[in-house]
Amino acid sequence: MRLAGAADHGMPPARLVHLRSSSSSVVLDVGSGVPCILHWGAALAADIDLDAFAAAFERPIANGELDVVGPLALVPEHGSGFAGRPGLIGSRPDGTAWSPRFVIGEWHAVIATGAEPGLDGDSLQCTAVDSVAKLTLTTDVHLEPTGVLTITCTLSNDGDTAYRLSALTVSLALPAAATELLTFTGRHTRELHPQRRPFDTGALVAENRRGRTSHEHLPFILAGVGGFGEWQGEVWSAHLAWSGNHTIVAECLADGRRYLQLGELLHDGEIALAPGASYATPRVVATYAANGMTAASQSLHRHLRARSTHPHRARPVLLNTWEAVYFDHDTDRLKALADAAASVGIERFVLDDGWFGARRNDRAGLGDWWVSPDVYPDGLAPLIAHVRSLGMEFGIWVEPEMVNPESDLFRAHPEWALVTAGYEPVLGRYQLVLDLANPAAYEHVFAQLDALLRDHDIAYVKWDMNRDHAQASGADGRAGTHAQTLALYRMLDELNARHPDVEIESCSSGGARIDHEILQRTVRVWTSDCNDALERQTIQRGASLLIPPELMGAHIGPTISHTTGRRHALAFRAITALFGHLGVEWNLLDATAAERDALRDVIAVHKRLRPLLHGGDVVRFDVPGGNGAAGFGSVPSPAIHAHGVYAPDRSEAVVAVVQLRTADSLTPPPLRLPGLDPDRRYRIELVPIAGQGRLGSARRQPAWLRDGIDLTGAQLAAHGLQLPVMHPETAILLHLTT
Ligand code: DGJ
Repeated sequence: MRLAGAADHGMPPARLVHLRSSSSSVVLDVGSGVPCILHWGAALAADIDLDAFAAAFERPIANGELDVVGPLALVPEHGSGFAGRPGLIGSRPDGTAWSPRFVIGEWHAVIATGAEPGLDGDSLQCTAVDSVAKLTLTTDVHLEPTGVLTITCTLSNDGDTAYRLSALTVSLALPAAATELLTFTGRHTRELHPQRRPFDTGALVAENRRGRTSHEHLPFILAGVGGFGEWQGEVWSAHLAWSGNHTIVAECLADGRRYLQLGELLHDGEIALAPGASYATPRVVATYAANGMTAASQSLHRHLRARSTHPHRARPVLLNTWEAVYFDHDTDRLKALADAAASVGIERFVLDDGWFGARRNDRAGLGDWWVSPDVYPDGLAPLIAHVRSLGMEFGIWVEPEMVNPESDLFRAHPEWALVTAGYEPVLGRYQLVLDLANPAAYEHVFAQLDALLRDHDIAYVKWDMNRDHAQASGADGRAGTHAQTLALYRMLDELNARHPDVEIESCSSGGARIDHEILQRTVRVWTSDCNDALERQTIQRGASLLIPPELMGAHIGPTISHTTGRRHALAFRAITALFGHLGVEWNLLDATAAERDALRDVIAVHKRLRPLLHGGDVVRFDVPGGNGAAGFGSVPSPAIHAHGVYAPDRSEAVVAVVQLRTADSLTPPPLRLPGLDPDRRYRIELVPIAGQGRLGSARRQPAWLRDGIDLTGAQLAAHGLQLPVMHPETAILLHLTT
């Protein structure tokens, strides 16, 4: 059904639009100007009486308030009496038009009729105009069948002077029941750590000015009812699909209303819209789940898996050379490493940093994307041919957005650096950012990458980005992060179009560029430079909320972790890395024959389970400890992590149980597995991994560990399966079949 309207600007009629998916409903009022969310939550009947529903939302006006209730619109307006953070902040050169107030213009909605939501989802597009400020605001709202809600807003300047835009953000009104917030913070080698806090009066503001998605403020926020967990409690989540600067706000107003607000962070003067020009926000990707975070992440995973660019061929197990050799490149040694890799079942060999220009350490060479004759006198061809002859694909590392002052490129074109003229630039890892919005710089870098891919048999590119922006000005002296981010996207898009068989990974000092927009043009994110399995448990659990396992790089490192010095058994490292796009980052030339044999078995297990791991529904479980600590952000942190993947038809499942620290009680609790087919009988068996030894100090462990056990889905949900006593930093893998 197509609804359309053009309101009388004097007396805007209330216009209610009901978007539906099978798991949620969004009711919007488009009558008063910019659309307002009246309801975003539980699915409502298709034929609900919307006027009566909306009447139930009418707010009283308390003493001390304005005579209107300032609408909490998708772009709320100070000018309409909204007391929170306006969605649009900007002005004209003379200071006017700083507080726009829009009225509804053209709008139309495409809504499936009938009891079942439509195949393409429901959508709404609204144009609102402010004829005084001479601005037009278009909002696009789409509720997908996956349950994911996407929103973008576009501001157009209809005036005859420039409009200086400081912020255009999307606000999502939430019900009063959302009383807790969950965000993810981190740093290099410790990404994606959960932070849970009350959502009460006041605002949480997270601002990222690093010019990349960032380690410390993943642009993702969840709000939920008190104590929301993996399988219980209403949860609303919102992600900003953007790889540059961003702002995320969660505010609870004095009148009790609350909202999440997400958008690009713009530096002062960064966007000045010329007459006729427009600015579009990054997409906000949001979900509602009636019963916890596992359902929320399943929607987000389905959303990503529905993209036409989603990788559908099996994710090749890779070996990455970084922690194996760092900058110490030598063709013969790399060939020997490739031999070892192939012998354990590796499918892709990725040559990391150090192969080009003067790149013998991290002080030089970035920008010179030609093969170093010092290290590779015969070029890369012999190594690539060797790798290919072993049946593996060849991948290569690049960091195209960067330049070292110590490089041919910088010596020839110092003016291409993204710096502010007249100041000593701030270096990061001895490097500067290259201004890719400068067409000449862009063409130069693009031509080098294009030639690299054209002249070599390369199937995979690890695209890295290792420094923050600081005083990043474009050629015109204006802040340049916005233009740089768009130029990055353009370059990735053009490379993908020119080399459609090459897959690109997004890396940024580990996990500083994990977002859905970079994933529009890449097939994998590097989750963290920390390969310590204990740390990885938390990092990957956080990442699993936003992205599915096949997009999440997870490597088995050496016995002693390079970043933490911890020592872990191969079984623990393997069970941790199995739940991602598996890789190995370990100098296998140092591994013993027994270790290589065990690694070969692990890789074989991964390949056997890969269709399930990379195509099933990710599940996480809250395992209560003696003190109640269970899930994301609980204090103290959980002692046990349990998570897995269920086959979409529930015929099979794989579940990992991980003992992170010493348990709170002498014996752990049973593990409940909700969400399986209640009527089916599951055979549960321990998957032997890498010669896994003694699990824990117990005189007797449950017999199912040895014999397996048969239980129905209903039993597993209601009571669960008694866990064994386990030592800290051990894990077990369970396979459920029907
Ligand atoms: C940072 C990345 O995260 C690492 O994996 C590695 O590629 C280095 N850069 C190389 O400089």
